[in-house]
Amino acid sequence: MRTNYCGEVTESLIDQEVTVCGWVHRRRDHGGVIFIDLRDREGLLQVVYDPDIEDAFATAESVRNEYVLQVKGLVRYRPEGTKNDKLATGQIEILGKELTILNAAETPPFMLDVADDEVAEDIRLKYRYIDLRREPMQKRLKMRSDIVRTLRNFLDDNGFMDIETPMLTKATPEGARDYLVPSRTHENSFFALPQSPQLFKQLLMMSGMDRYYQIVRCFRDEDLRADRQPEFTQIDIETSFIDEEEIMSLTEYMMRGIFSDVLNVDLPNPFPRMTYDEAIRRFGSDKPDMRISMELVDIADLLQDIEFKVFSGPAKDEKGRVAAMRLPQGCKLSRKDIDGYTNFVGIYGAKGLAYIKVNELAKGVEGLQSPILKFLPDDAVMEIIKRTGAEDGDLVFFGADKAKIVNEALGALRVKLAEDLDLMEGDWEPLWVVDFPMFEWDEGGKRWHALHHPFTSPKESDIELLESDPGKCYSRAYDMVLNGTELGGGSMRIYREEVQKKVFKALGISEEEAEEKFGFLLDALKFGCPPHGGIAFGLDRLVMLLSGASSIRDVMAFPKTQSASCLLTQAPSTVSEAQLRELHIKLRKPTVNKES
Ligand code: AMO
Ligand code: AMP
Repeated sequence: MRTNYCGEVTESLIDQEVTVCGWVHRRRDHGGVIFIDLRDREGLLQVVYDPDIEDAFATAESVRNEYVLQVKGLVRYRPEGTKNDKLATGQIEILGKELTILNAAETPPFMLDVADDEVAEDIRLKYRYIDLRREPMQKRLKMRSDIVRTLRNFLDDNGFMDIETPMLTKATPEGARDYLVPSRTHENSFFALPQSPQLFKQLLMMSGMDRYYQIVRCFRDEDLRADRQPEFTQIDIETSFIDEEEIMSLTEYMMRGIFSDVLNVDLPNPFPRMTYDEAIRRFGSDKPDMRISMELVDIADLLQDIEFKVFSGPAKDEKGRVAAMRLPQGCKLSRKDIDGYTNFVGIYGAKGLAYIKVNELAKGVEGLQSPILKFLPDDAVMEIIKRTGAEDGDLVFFGADKAKIVNEALGALRVKLAEDLDLMEGDWEPLWVVDFPMFEWDEGGKRWHALHHPFTSPKESDIELLESDPGKCYSRAYDMVLNGTELGGGSMRIYREEVQKKVFKALGISEEEAEEKFGFLLDALKFGCPPHGGIAFGLDRLVMLLSGASSIRDVMAFPKTQSASCLLTQAPSTVSEAQLRELHIKLRKPTVNKES
């Protein structure tokens, strides 16, 4: 039907006849001549219809935006003064000879040359097939496809085998809720969609596959954010007989390759590393954005014995934390700005946000300004200012509460301030976070939780702590962080049955429960399991960062909304009574479609 893509018709084809197909991007009438910008995947092409060619001209008069056309015509230079250097096809145009309307189109619900945020996202998602015609979406999906190709080539070249694992399976605990699928053939039984292929990839190592990878869909029913979707794609990797050093060095080599191929950016070699404890202490986060220089500084030791309970309470509490954070040039924040940030930290459970403005340090305490000065001894205040390194014009924020709240609140405030006040330095700051604790105490459930997943190996020297002091036990896990986003996470795995059993026990999983849920794994560990480990990267997050998109929805063809629904197909939806009966399911309430 065509000889060329629209976007590829250039000067090399001057005076030749071409046939192109595409969508009407724009149509303009100019004093008896009709211009049509025809669009396909590769770009835009200007077609001119002259009244001399009567049939084609008449048809051209009737076309509207997004009509699908087949155009035959002659390539010629645009007249001087009308050339467009920004367009690949900007030097030429087609003199239209024939015109066939392949299909008409109704007026689209939005214009196609708008930016992402100029159309409400629910409209974009409802008419995703039109949204995907827009140039930014086309570019991002093209980039995604290029990245996947580069990744596959790299992994193939390095001896990794692409092996598929089941989608209908048993629960794999990665910390989210499962998506369940009822079984028709096994009454009252359910499959779970995989939260990750974790157990299968470990079993593949036990099968002797040695190096596995898969670009694989994972499903997690969790609270959604800009960088989370209920179904998303992992670059999933597992290897045998190599340790964490080799896995980290291999995968950062892979990342450097992608950044240099796609963006022509050289990431550092090697990536810097930081322990989990240091990341939390200095940045309040296990995925610190290293483009931001602000740090949390501990000051509890200075405030244990003061009257001001807001600070002395947490300062004396062993689970508490009192920290200060210096905001360079923060004196220019208004009362209203500070109130805004106080509300912001409230999202993370902080009960307030004390601050001191440093007007003129030479004057001592007299040169400071703050509603809390009256509660604090002068020498403590001066020591705090010294520790934070604050200078004239700076502002110091305070957090005092349970350590978890202070870390989350000040950690998030640090990023928010940097975004609002444009304090990011450097473009790309990768980081390995290492030496994670094995467990995290769940106050609500009064039990230990796996910080990664229950198959992560403890440090060899910490195995004895599994029973005596789980909180002090560290794991062989590592996360790759880029600009404050967790790009990937992995670990060396447990490969000895007795260690796996101890970890289940520490997690409060009884022997019966372990047998019922993970019996197949415990069995497999008995039959010659090699030492193994791996990692998984979030492909959507990687493409989001590389393309500069602000949400992973913008790098997925058909994403779901914040409430995990598909506005295009209206999924999830109700099903017929007959279907339910076949699945042995009786609904609790009359079926109502809750999605609005
Ligand atoms: P983890 O749970 O850290 O590890 O997941 C690996 C990476 O997947 C991405 N990711 C997500 N992306 C989009 N939406 C989500 N809801 C979502 N959840 C996770 C992140 C994350 O770093 N089996 C282990 C890996 C291993 O140990 O090898 C796992 O799944 O970028
Ligand atoms: P209050 O005595 O509660 O009015 O608090 C005095 C100052 O301390 C106010 O500026 C509060 O915003 C701040 N503040 C209160 N609670 C905390 C907290 N947990 N962490 C940091 N600052 C706080």
